[in-house]
Amino acid sequence: MADSKFTILPAHVGVIMDGNGRWAKNRGLPRKMGHIEGAKTFRKIGEYAGNLGIRHISFYAFSTENWSRPEDEVTAIMKLFGDYLKEAEDRLQENLEKGIRLRFLGDRSALTDELRYAMDYLEDATKDMTKVNLNLAINYGGQQEILHSVKNIAEDILSEKIKPQDITLETIQAGLYTKEQPPVDLVIRPSGEQRLSNFLLWQSAYAEFWYSDVLWPDFTENDFDEALRAFEKRNRRFGGV
Ligand code: FPP
Repeated sequence: MADSKFTILPAHVGVIMDGNGRWAKNRGLPRKMGHIEGAKTFRKIGEYAGNLGIRHISFYAFSTENWSRPEDEVTAIMKLFGDYLKEAEDRLQENLEKGIRLRFLGDRSALTDELRYAMDYLEDATKDMTKVNLNLAINYGGQQEILHSVKNIAEDILSEKIKPQDITLETIQAGLYTKEQPPVDLVIRPSGEQRLSNFLLWQSAYAEFWYSDVLWPDFTENDFDEALRAFEKRNRRFGGV
């Protein structure tokens, strides 16, 4: 049920799940323990956002640059992703009843067949849902996403489907992973970093940013509320006065 505690809600929230490594280090634990806790926070905040009535939410789980991390860390994140996919399949009926549509943003060609199969299956099984749109960005890069769209357009020009003068902002948008979704209104980044890190570049052109020192595994529903309250107060002008 939509909650009435906010007068205005962002149509699309982007979340950069940062600080897992430091959370683990602070406790003398291996980094992957931070990711395990981070994956729990992802589930908690995803569910909370849906209950609040946020229609679109995108979480950044793994960037195109994250392959350069130690192999065991990459393996641990991919395992957590696989676990999430299995759980989403097991709970498919429940998710359908809640109206949740799942999308995976990013280049899946580098992922295993097993992961890709589960991703395709879940996207297809939830494609008619409209209440909550939950995106998980995995092997995702915003610049790469725009490049991919531009290449599609170049092919359409070569095959004379469109002419260069017909290209509009919508043509580029149509080639993005989030093509049918509204732009990002609010980007949340915990852990004290204040960067976009190649996340939803096109979609965040007019996004408000909210930062916090909390490390992602410690991030709570109250922190999410705080971000939404800050968003309520922002004076958004979209380039106007
Ligand atoms: C950034 O923190 C976090 C990541 C690169 C991975 C995020 C992954 C998860 C939250 C778990 C995966 C969940 C699913 C469902 C796939 P960092 O490691 O850069 O933290 P640090 O800056 O403190 O080192």
